[in-house]
Amino acid sequence: MLGSTGSIGRNTLEVIAGSAGRLQVAALSAHGNVPLLIAQAAAVRPRWVVATDPGAAKSADWSGLPDETERIVGPEGLGRVAAEPEVDMVVSAIVGIAGLVGTWAALAAGKRVALANKESLVVGGGLVTQLARDNQAKIIPVDSEHSAVFQALAAGRREEVRRIILTASGGPFRNHAADQLAGVTVEEALAHPTWAMGPKITVDSATMMNKALEIIEARWLFDLAPDQITVLIHPQSIVHSMVEYKDGSVIAQLGLPDMKLPIQYALDWPARHEGVAARLDWSEAIHLDFEPPDGERFAALALGREVARRGGTAGAVLNGANEAAVAAFLGHRLRFDRIVPAVCAALENHNFDPNPSLDQLFALDRWAREEVERWIGA
Ligand SMILES: NC(=O)c1ccc[n+]([C@@H]2O[C@H](COP(=O)([O-])OP(=O)(O)OC[C@H]3O[C@@H](n4cnc5c(N)ncnc54)[C@H](OP(=O)(O)O)[C@@H]3O)[C@@H](O)[C@H]2O)c1
Repeated sequence: MLGSTGSIGRNTLEVIAGSAGRLQVAALSAHGNVPLLIAQAAAVRPRWVVATDPGAAKSADWSGLPDETERIVGPEGLGRVAAEPEVDMVVSAIVGIAGLVGTWAALAAGKRVALANKESLVVGGGLVTQLARDNQAKIIPVDSEHSAVFQALAAGRREEVRRIILTASGGPFRNHAADQLAGVTVEEALAHPTWAMGPKITVDSATMMNKALEIIEARWLFDLAPDQITVLIHPQSIVHSMVEYKDGSVIAQLGLPDMKLPIQYALDWPARHEGVAARLDWSEAIHLDFEPPDGERFAALALGREVARRGGTAGAVLNGANEAAVAAFLGHRLRFDRIVPAVCAALENHNFDPNPSLDQLFALDRWAREEVERWIGA
């Protein structure tokens, strides 16, 4: 369980606690929140805990760690626990490119990966999916939209798929005019209308960059052409995504916006068991609305499609620039409506390579962050 102290991590531990012993935790990891890591370890008694931030690990009181749990300090620990023979499955739920290290190690060791960290595929899609194939490792999506597509794909054959339809809540600014987006505050951007998530993905939802990342993620996960991926605004977040087949049938997966459902699906796949997620109440009227997104107000969508089409180094630059721009917005150094232009500028300025190495992608990630800082300072 990589990233156990985050929003996905805490939901995953709830799913495991409700699994009647079917699922057990071998290892947990955290970065800054070491007190929560120790409290989680006291509850689930894993074989290992990894504290990736040595500074936070040093200042923590470790007296509550169970005697049987081994403490590993530093990011190298992620690769070590992910490859341990007694680990069957790795939940990759660290936020940002930092999550790629654990995803990579798990796939290299031939493990099944329940993938929440979409950035792993955005940055290294081609290399990551090739690594999975080379090692007979399986990636099961945790992202609710991709989980929905994964489930709906079971209704037909791959060559019968016409397109997939990713739904988007539209975030808190769905009805804002372009000039209103300039004055958006951090507090407003962090107040998502339907999902409770970590801060970075919540801001990504507000800019629609999250949907851009999901277009790229879907391109690699399901081996689709970008023009086979349609985005639709669905404010209720009940239809999590759909697959349209050649004959015109559209197969959807529905549920309340509760990440415990796609998490449990990924952990139990291909089986289904009694679930702990909140359920739809069919005794009440349920309204489902759909509308096409306004591409002009939410320019991130076109960017996502373009990066999905180009592949190569474009994803690493988009992701690194976006992480830096979101951090600058959360630090009150960049206006909300400048996040996407900052990412655009970095993409335009980079030297594209269609077949990069993993080291090249990490180097470009660093370059994109510096480029955004230069752009902000200019
Ligand atoms: N939340 C959702 O509903 C949702 C839905 C779909 C996909 N996802 C994806 O799932 C991933 C996690 O999202 P989240 O919302 O759970 O994020 P989050 O609440 O911010 O949690 C992030 C986790 O990553 C750890 N972490 C942060 N920086 C790290 C670093 N440099 N090295 C190692 N660990 C680090 C954090 O540790 P500390 O807290 O100890 O610092 C925490 O455990 C993201 O890729 C996101 O896009 C999330």
